[in-house]
Amino acid sequence: MRKVAVALGSNRYEIYVSSDLLAQAGRWLRTSGFSGKAVIITDPTVNNLYGEVLGQSLANEGFSVRTLLVPAGEEQKSLETAGRLYQELTDCGAERATPILALGGGVIGDLGGFVAATYMRGVPLVQVPTTLLSQVDSSIGGKVAVDHGQLKNKIGAFYQPELVIADTATLKTLPPEQLANGLAEVIKSAVIRDKEFFLFLEKNLDRVKSLDGEVLGEVVFRTAQIKAEVVAKDEKDAGLRNILNYGHTIGHAIESVSGFEMGHGQAVAIGMVAAARISNKMDLLDNDGRDRLKKIIQRAGLPTEVPDLEKEKVLQAMKHDKKTRQGKARFVLLHSIGSTLVTDGVSPALVEEVLSRHE
Ligand SMILES: NC(=O)c1ccc[n+]([C@@H]2O[C@H](COP(=O)([O-])OP(=O)(O)OC[C@H]3O[C@@H](n4cnc5c(N)ncnc54)[C@H](O)[C@@H]3O)[C@@H](O)[C@H]2O)c1
Ligand SMILES: [Zn+2]
Repeated sequence: MRKVAVALGSNRYEIYVSSDLLAQAGRWLRTSGFSGKAVIITDPTVNNLYGEVLGQSLANEGFSVRTLLVPAGEEQKSLETAGRLYQELTDCGAERATPILALGGGVIGDLGGFVAATYMRGVPLVQVPTTLLSQVDSSIGGKVAVDHGQLKNKIGAFYQPELVIADTATLKTLPPEQLANGLAEVIKSAVIRDKEFFLFLEKNLDRVKSLDGEVLGEVVFRTAQIKAEVVAKDEKDAGLRNILNYGHTIGHAIESVSGFEMGHGQAVAIGMVAAARISNKMDLLDNDGRDRLKKIIQRAGLPTEVPDLEKEKVLQAMKHDKKTRQGKARFVLLHSIGSTLVTDGVSPALVEEVLSRHE
C-alpha cells in the first residue's frame, strides 16, 4: 500500500492508495482509536457494489454499523438531504465520536463531508472515494459543500478527514464516461505541475483506459500527491491553490451554460484546451505543448471544443462570473507543460478568438 501525507499542521492525515483496501478499513479505524458505532453514507449503486465489504470490515472489528442511503446525483447535494441525514443520524444515536464514512463519488464525499462537518459541530470523517475524480481530487483538500439555488458548492466548510481510503480496485466498475471525467483532473494535475507525469500519461493512457490495475494505482497516487502538495501549501485557498483551477475558468462557464448536463471533467477538458491556446497566443506556451495537451485530452475520450451554438452564452457566463474583475476573468496559463502562471491580463477578445477558431 502507498501513502500520501497531507501535511496540514494539526490536521495532518493520510491518503491510502492501493487495490483491495476496503476490507481493511475496520482495522484502521479501530487502531486509530475509534469504537462503538460507525455510519456509512453512500448511494444505492455504490452500496450494492461495495457496501457489504466495507460494512463487514467494520463489523469484524466490533463496530455497530448503520448505512444511510442517498440517491445518486448532484441534486442530492442539498440542504434538504443534509437535513434528512441529520435526522437519521440522531435516530440511530450517532454521537460526537461516531465516525462517518463517505463511500462513493464526489457527490457523496461533499455531502457526507458537509454533514460530518456540521452534525454536532463536527464528527470524525473518513473519505472512501470510489470514482477516479473523487480519489484524485474531491476527497483531498477538505472542501465539503452542498449546492443551494445558484450557489454551487458555496454552502460549505473546510473540514479535513481523519483518513482517505482510495481503493483503486473500485475503479474497475466505473462507466467509461466517469473514468474520462476523472482523467480530465489527472491530466490537469500533470500539466500544471509535473512534466514527467505528463510523459507517463502519454505513454500509458491506453492502459489506464483498459483499467490496468498497476497503472491506475500509479495514476491515483501521483495525482493525489500533486493535489496534497498544493493544498498543504495553501489550505484555505488564498494563493497557490489557484493553479488547480487550470481549465476551470472557461470550464465553469461551459458547465453552467449546459445547465450542469455536461460533466465537470468534460467541461474542464474544453477549458484546458482553450487555456492552452490562450497561453500560446500570448507567447507563453509553444505549439508543441499546446498540441500535445489537446491530443492527450482527445485520447482520454474528452471533448476539446465548445459546441458552436453555445459560444456566445459561454462568453456571457464568463462575464457574470463572480471571479471576474472589470470584465477580465482570472486565468491559469501555461509557460510550458508542468509550469503555470496566474493572471487577470487575458483580454475578452482573446478568449472569444480561441473559442471561435479550432486549431
Ligand atoms: N470537494 C472538492 O474539492 C471537489 C472537487 C471536485 C469535484 N467535486 C464535486 O464532486 C462531484 C462529482 O463527483 P464524481 O465525478 O465522483 O461524481 P458522482 O459522485 O456523481 O459519481 C458519479 C456516479 O458514479 C457512480 N459510482 C461511484 N463509484 C462507482 C464505482 N466504483 N463503480 C460504478 N459506479 C460508481 C455513482 O453512483 C454516481 O452515479 C461534484 O458534486 C463536484 O462538485 C468536489
Ligand atoms: Zn475540477
